[in-house]
Amino acid sequence: MTDRPIGIFDSGVGGLSVWQEIERLLPNESIVYYADNANCPYGEKTREEVIRHSAKVAQFLVDKGCKIIVVACNTATSQAIDCLRETFEIPFVGIIPAVKPASINSKTGVIAILATAGTLKSGKFNEARQEFSGNTEIIPVEGGELVDIVEKGLQGTKLSEKILHKHIDPLMERHIDHLVLGCTHFPFLIDDIKKITGNRLVLDNPAPAIAKRTEFILENEGLMASPLNEKQVVFFSSGDIGMLKNMVENIIGFKSCTGFYGNS
Ligand code: DGL
Repeated sequence: MTDRPIGIFDSGVGGLSVWQEIERLLPNESIVYYADNANCPYGEKTREEVIRHSAKVAQFLVDKGCKIIVVACNTATSQAIDCLRETFEIPFVGIIPAVKPASINSKTGVIAILATAGTLKSGKFNEARQEFSGNTEIIPVEGGELVDIVEKGLQGTKLSEKILHKHIDPLMERHIDHLVLGCTHFPFLIDDIKKITGNRLVLDNPAPAIAKRTEFILENEGLMASPLNEKQVVFFSSGDIGMLKNMVENIIGFKSCTGFYGNS
């Protein structure tokens, strides 16, 4: 057992969709969340840049005493997690688009993956696509501009609706029945997506499975927090902390934070 915190990071607020699930499943654990807002978006960066930024954040979390790091970013996982595992000694949990469950459960045999350019061009995504494309048509859709919508808190606006229509309307014509949310920012657009699709699509969000995987590793490695843990939940941003704080406290409605720290 150890009361050291779980580290979670993303390029911005998107990883909060994973943090929420971890918080729900492991309420006794202390958490340090890091949003690399100064370098967001990761999706448009080269692999080398994503590795460099991810390694810097991982070092920060290790210096904070984290016992495990959850890479709550599909782009960073698909491009950098192998390097992080080689560099640091603590365990890492990553997130990649839920191609497998969507392919297995699709009834029409056509699914789409909405993700960043970085994820879609990565070897990890393309291996998964290859593996499951035998019986299922897998349509990749680059939705990087939606990251900015979530970062700016523009969910529920006409702009969000317009961009989503542009991406989703052609997919509906191709009779997809699953849309994989292949970027951790996108679960914050679920209400907007449902305004367009109603209940005609299953939206696959891997975040709950990532929380379960984190629990499994903590249990297996004897790293769970003790019942007497004095839980702390701290948020850091390499940029403006304002949006992160607003998301956590007002949009998600979590009021028990220990602290928020940003650079501006
Ligand atoms: N939230 C991140 C992901 O899951 C990336 C967003 C970005 O920085 O482009 O891919």
